[in-house]
Amino acid sequence: MPLQIKPLHPLFAAEASGLDLTKALNADEIRQINDAMNQYAVLVWKNQPLTMQEQLQFSQSFGPLDIGLKRIFKRPERLDDERLVDISNVEMSGQVAPRDSRKNLSSFANQLWHSDSSFMNPRAAYSILHSVIKPSWGGNTEFSDLRAAYDALTPEMKIELSTLKAEHFALHTRILLGDDAYTDDQKKEIPPAIWPLVDTHPGSGRKVLFVGVHAREVIGWPTAEGRIFLSDLLEHATQRQFVYTHNWDVGDTVMWDNRSTVHRGRRFDIMERRELRRTTINDEPDAIVH
Ligand code: OGA
Ligand code: MN
Repeated sequence: MPLQIKPLHPLFAAEASGLDLTKALNADEIRQINDAMNQYAVLVWKNQPLTMQEQLQFSQSFGPLDIGLKRIFKRPERLDDERLVDISNVEMSGQVAPRDSRKNLSSFANQLWHSDSSFMNPRAAYSILHSVIKPSWGGNTEFSDLRAAYDALTPEMKIELSTLKAEHFALHTRILLGDDAYTDDQKKEIPPAIWPLVDTHPGSGRKVLFVGVHAREVIGWPTAEGRIFLSDLLEHATQRQFVYTHNWDVGDTVMWDNRSTVHRGRRFDIMERRELRRTTINDEPDAIVH
């Protein structure tokens, strides 16, 4: 059966079905998924439980995987394969982590609007997140459409933004959350990445307002003025009409394009278990068939 698509929002995001994600995909199926990603930017697959190996295999169909922030943290991890990111509040022992643990810092940072790994070059293309255990309330994930956000800018803003660039830094969100105990070596491990504020999404040719909380500076501007501007732009880009909210069921897999969307987790009771697993595909030239 070919890929089936059911739109979930007037602007972007769709439910995908018709393919078995636990089986190796052929080139035509991969092309169908890439085409749908280029159009919808967020695809939701319902009720397809994936083992870790199956998630890795499915993800690798789209390009090389990246480990992101693990380059800096180099901490022991609960999941054996370093290409699987443990999006959970569970510590090494398997218990729910104490409220003030370092593990929870990542959960909280994920509750700020961001594009995964925009602090790196190459950055992330797709992320693929699979739900394993959900809490009794909260913990939705919201996505905002940066192409629609660009389209809604005034003509004056489009002109002003067309030549501006922003610097994105890996530890910026941690520092915002009061966690600044990093060594110089850790700070240097991932040098800041610079991206134009207006970018062209390769797979659709549409313009994107590329913002998110990893951005900490507008190049050539005073820091304070740049940060206020970046926060205004992010507020513009995440207005309700641009947002699709995913309410997780266990067994859901959601994939999104980090070059055309930002996302954030929503609050839940941090003492209740929430477990998801993420893989991240690197935006290497030619890695994704456009
Ligand atoms: C992520 C992320 C948000 C969430 O996995 O990249 O930001 O809802 N997750 O857990
Ligand atoms: Mn994320």
